[in-house]
Amino acid sequence: MARTALVTGGTRGIGKAISIALKEAGYTVAANYAGNDEAANAFKAETGIEVFKWSVADYDACKAGIEKVEAELGPVDILINNAGITRDAPFHKMKPEQWREVIDTNLSGVFNMTHPLWNSMRDRGFGRIVTISSINGQKGQFGQANYSAAKAGDLGFTKALAQEGARKGITVNAICPGYIATDMVMAVPEEVRNQIIAGIPVGRLGEAEEIARCVVFLVSEEAGFITGATLSANGGQYMAG
Ligand code: CAA
Repeated sequence: MARTALVTGGTRGIGKAISIALKEAGYTVAANYAGNDEAANAFKAETGIEVFKWSVADYDACKAGIEKVEAELGPVDILINNAGITRDAPFHKMKPEQWREVIDTNLSGVFNMTHPLWNSMRDRGFGRIVTISSINGQKGQFGQANYSAAKAGDLGFTKALAQEGARKGITVNAICPGYIATDMVMAVPEEVRNQIIAGIPVGRLGEAEEIARCVVFLVSEEAGFITGATLSANGGQYMAG
């Protein structure tokens, strides 16, 4: 039977491309989303992938949401922690709620989704967890003290949990996309965005499908020796050691 994959923020942007690529690779896919019903319904109509609404920032909602997915589609073997938000501001203008919202979604959200699934993955002796971090968690970014902190936290989480999952058949990895042509990046002021593109050696923004292909590789049975890894896909913008 096909393994079941759950993709958070799976109906738009990079998450949408991941959901579609996993379905095309033969997995049963559940796509979580938090707020945009219109986009989620359009995604469902276009792809036939089931959508489930809850906020990853809410632990109890994650637990209940995962139970619903598992009741409908079977045990979740593959978790893609993709949901993320930005609340960019230079630090001198950053409000405490801009800090909290980003940490709650982009860092605690990863805990909230992984923790309820962890014991059943351990019991079954198989799991694949891939968290979508960011180039800005590796290098930092002006205007993103909140986002860079959360995304760097995701990398520490990945490396620690990889050690705990290793003997139980669970791999835990992270992908650090660079600037990908999604709504999130298009929200950056055009002038700033053009400066960013000028700093990308490949000379363009990335495509969501380029990140989705990394996910399909990392969740495969054949990738069982890769754990605790950070896979950068950023057009050469930042080369982490
Ligand atoms: N380095 C140094 N100085 C910078 C700078 C940088 N990278 N970016 C802006 N500044 C400077 C400006 O030149 C300006 O200087 P002066 O005051 O001397 O003129 C000062 O910072 C403040 O500028 P503003 O008054 O315009 O500040 P603002 O509040 O309007 O906006 C900002 C600042 C929100 C940081 C805006 O520049 C911005 O959106 N930058 C892009 C941030 C970014 O890259 N976000 C990534 C979003 S996509 C994503 O997150 C996905 C992913 O994982 C890659």
